[in-house]
Amino acid sequence: MAEIITAKVLRYDPSTDDAPWFQDFQVEWVEDPSGIMTALQVLHAINYDQEQIGYDYCCRSGLCGRCSMLIDGKAALACWTPMTPGDHTFEPLPKFPVVKDLIVDRSRAYERFIEANTSIQTVNPIVNLPDIDYNLYWNTLERLNMCRECMCCYSVCPKLQDKGSNWKDFSGPGALMAIAQRYLDTEDEADRLAQAVYSGLFICDQCGECNKVCPSYIAIVDIIAQMQEDATTRGLQPSGTAEFM
Ligand code: SF4
Ligand code: SF4
Ligand code: FES
Repeated sequence: MAEIITAKVLRYDPSTDDAPWFQDFQVEWVEDPSGIMTALQVLHAINYDQEQIGYDYCCRSGLCGRCSMLIDGKAALACWTPMTPGDHTFEPLPKFPVVKDLIVDRSRAYERFIEANTSIQTVNPIVNLPDIDYNLYWNTLERLNMCRECMCCYSVCPKLQDKGSNWKDFSGPGALMAIAQRYLDTEDEADRLAQAVYSGLFICDQCGECNKVCPSYIAIVDIIAQMQEDATTRGLQPSGTAEFM
């Protein structure tokens, strides 16, 4: 007998619905050639065979970060989340306005990444820059470079307000990692530490929630802690903020 997934999908069309509501769909659990059925494949099965639902995706291979959502209450990439038969919930990523169903408007987080301005800042001619140190790249920068801008870390950070009101004061974990990438790049000459402080570095209390959901396994908390320590050593810590060393 076929095994069944019951997908409880949070539906919401702001142009017609007063409030979000759950709709249940039954989907047959079917293994793909790699032996799994992903959450994204479950959504495809609903969308193509039963009823159109709103969800976002592109690469289907964990690269673009567009399929992030809450799956069984945890922020994750749908294309990277294997499903088992049984009940599963699908909800939009919190802290962002819902466009439709599982699609959210992430503009307020993308803006923080743009503000991070990660193009290299140097007075040397670019053509004269030495290659990045091999060990620095493979031990640290390569991992930071893997950020998918999935915004899962934003959805769980308790220091970012749900309606986005304080996001100008605190750039959030993802954009802080973008700043850290240039802070740790020995050829970048901008004062990235001061930039991080102005971007709310000390608002982070190192709770660790962002680390738990990052699909790129970036050591966000460790990097923030190191920058907080370095900023404190330089006397950049804003008065009245807690020390985490
Ligand atoms: S460790 Fe800092 S950035 Fe990460 S979720 Fe907690 S407060 Fe936010
Ligand atoms: S730091 Fe991790 S969780 Fe945050 S946006 Fe980048 S990949 Fe996603
Ligand atoms: S579709 Fe690109 S990360 Fe999932």
